[in-house]
Amino acid sequence: MFRTRRLRKTENIRRLVRETKLSVDDFIYPLFIEEGTGIETEIPSMPGINRYSLDTISKELDEVVALKIPAVLLFGIPSKKDVEGTETWNDNGIMQQAIRFIKKNYPSLYVITDVCFCEYTSHGHCGVIHDNDVDNDATLVNLAKQTVSHAKAGADMVAPSGMMDGAIAMMRESLDNTGYANLPIMGYSVKYASGFYGPFREAVDSAPSFGDRRTYQMDPSNRDEGLREATFDDEEGADILMVKPALSYLDIIRDLKNNFDRPIACYNVSGEYSMVKAAAEKGWIDGEKVMMESLLSMKRAGADIIITYFAKEAARVLNK
Ligand code: PBG
Repeated sequence: MFRTRRLRKTENIRRLVRETKLSVDDFIYPLFIEEGTGIETEIPSMPGINRYSLDTISKELDEVVALKIPAVLLFGIPSKKDVEGTETWNDNGIMQQAIRFIKKNYPSLYVITDVCFCEYTSHGHCGVIHDNDVDNDATLVNLAKQTVSHAKAGADMVAPSGMMDGAIAMMRESLDNTGYANLPIMGYSVKYASGFYGPFREAVDSAPSFGDRRTYQMDPSNRDEGLREATFDDEEGADILMVKPALSYLDIIRDLKNNFDRPIACYNVSGEYSMVKAAAEKGWIDGEKVMMESLLSMKRAGADIIITYFAKEAARVLNK
């Protein structure tokens, strides 16, 4: 008889035959940085996650470094918004200040920046609006300005999340032309128009004031199109390809892993975090177990890198 149970008998034999192992090396921790002082505001739907101003963020960064999390992904929350999100390319904007602050005080921490407009535009969309929709090519012009401004401030990697066509090519070209040929780009290559972003939009105040993002983000029904999106980013020169969200899109993560010889990342988004937290709070699930199992599933699906709000908590479990 086939007896698969022979190799499940004790923890030590299970360790020997374990196929997938999570490591703190896999994690990128997102940070919300708000312009102003004395800010440490908990995001109600994301217990444990705060918005910080630069004068309060050090204890968070100390923890990230102590836990040996290799990288952070920065989101800026500006004090003023306008129709085009011009603050995104202000060399003295909140994102640029944050990059300089972290690179000065935590030089070994790898700093990745979210390159988008939705937190900076008065209407909450990810670019320039024409005729009630985001104008792709007008947005690319601003995207190039924002990218170079992040590079000048000292970012280690840039990651465009706006799903504009041609973004990677535009960013690669502007970086190459300004002396940043060695700065890598992580593409939010396959990003779906998802309900799982709800808590994030509350966190950074970026919900669109009209319409939704379905004219630029992907339809959750589409799998083949995910490969097409990833192919464009790959050919345009993205160094890392990302799938977002993660849990409902594990099939897409595996598709990318099987089809591209680039590192594959996934974004374990806000709603995925909130669901686990809420159910654990109610005592309906074992929060730590479900957290580790979810992260493991992303790695098993093929993610080399996991962007997650659980990074600190999971690192503590892994370092035990
Ligand atoms: C902005 C952006 C979003 C997220 C990351 N960058 C939200 C969106 O597209 O509306 C979501 C992150 C999360 O939910 O954790 N372009």
